[in-house]
Amino acid sequence: MLQRVVAAAVVIAISALGAGSAVAQDSIKIGLVMPMTGGLGAAGQEAAAGANLYVAQHGDTVAGKKIEVIIRDDASLPDNGKRIAQEMIVNDHVAILGAGATPSGMSIAPIATAGKVPTVMMISGTSVVTERSPYYVRTSFTLGQQAEIIADWAIKTGSKKAVSILTDYAPGGEAGKVFEQHFTNGGGQLLDTLKVPIANPDFAPFLQRARDLQPDTLFVFVPAGQAGTFARQFVERGLDKSGIKLIGPGDIVDDNDLPASGDALLGVVTAGFYSAAHPSAINKQYVADYAKATGGKRANFISVGGYDGMHLIYEALKKTGGKTDPDALLAAMKGVSWESPRGPISIDPQTRDIVQNIYIRKIEKRDGVPWAIEFATFEAVKDPLHPAAAN
Ligand code: PHB
Repeated sequence: MLQRVVAAAVVIAISALGAGSAVAQDSIKIGLVMPMTGGLGAAGQEAAAGANLYVAQHGDTVAGKKIEVIIRDDASLPDNGKRIAQEMIVNDHVAILGAGATPSGMSIAPIATAGKVPTVMMISGTSVVTERSPYYVRTSFTLGQQAEIIADWAIKTGSKKAVSILTDYAPGGEAGKVFEQHFTNGGGQLLDTLKVPIANPDFAPFLQRARDLQPDTLFVFVPAGQAGTFARQFVERGLDKSGIKLIGPGDIVDDNDLPASGDALLGVVTAGFYSAAHPSAINKQYVADYAKATGGKRANFISVGGYDGMHLIYEALKKTGGKTDPDALLAAMKGVSWESPRGPISIDPQTRDIVQNIYIRKIEKRDGVPWAIEFATFEAVKDPLHPAAAN
């Protein structure tokens, strides 16, 4: 109860202050609340690296204003995320927030709404998150966008009996729900859905249980940072030689983990929105610059959410002439389209959500190293779970 009273008081303080009234300045502060450590630590590091790279490439002045990016670690804990967002608004006077994974995305929403702070979701893959605040805009992705396409593809290529293995939190739930809808609508049978605790990514018992059910297809979601462990255990259990088709959203073939995955994932087909092998000039530059900035890491699907998030913020500030009025910034973000390293993307003006191509990709070796090679494209895919979405 006391906690709720304190929270309400903070919301009132933020409302009274308002982001728009944040000290007239020549510099504009952008606060990124990221999971730099903890369960989703890999994702926070990658999104932050993408955001920093954008600023390094494009300079730190926009519309005559100096851009100051503040990155703080929520340690993958939503209560921290909420507190840090409050501090950034009240103490640092940030004009714009960037949020990371789904748990903090959910907890920050009332703060962003009360403070009228445009907030760019740079990691979250959960559909519902953008409905939690009218000030939320997404440059990451949704699991639903990818799950519907891979489910339809599986049916088309002969899958009949599937088992799902999903990390047990909101994005896994949505991935599983959309996969089940499309797979069963297409005449497939979902034998079981197995949920793996997020804090304890030991897939071995779940892989064994899945194998015992004798499916022809295994649909898997694990969040960024866990694909390497998953691939290792998949091979240890002999599932790569079992004849069971492994499919999923792009998360299970994370470019960050592919270089060290050997032959474990060769031939695996996923539906994803980003591959470091995407054959465009802008992506080749992105991959080269990202490697240079991170000591040789391969750019991945999480990093582009941070990179594109900064692009969206820069474009909105250019449109408002450097003014940070929150409603003007939000209006400037709606409907923007551009070419990202992942391909053409835009912000749906109705849902404030990302519209992007989804590619079907197969893991193949190039020069002895595994990459996700795109071989089919579904253009301008919207999130299927938003009430307003009509694909
Ligand atoms: C999320 O928190 O929504 C999330 C994080 C990492 C992923 C996917 C979704 O790979």
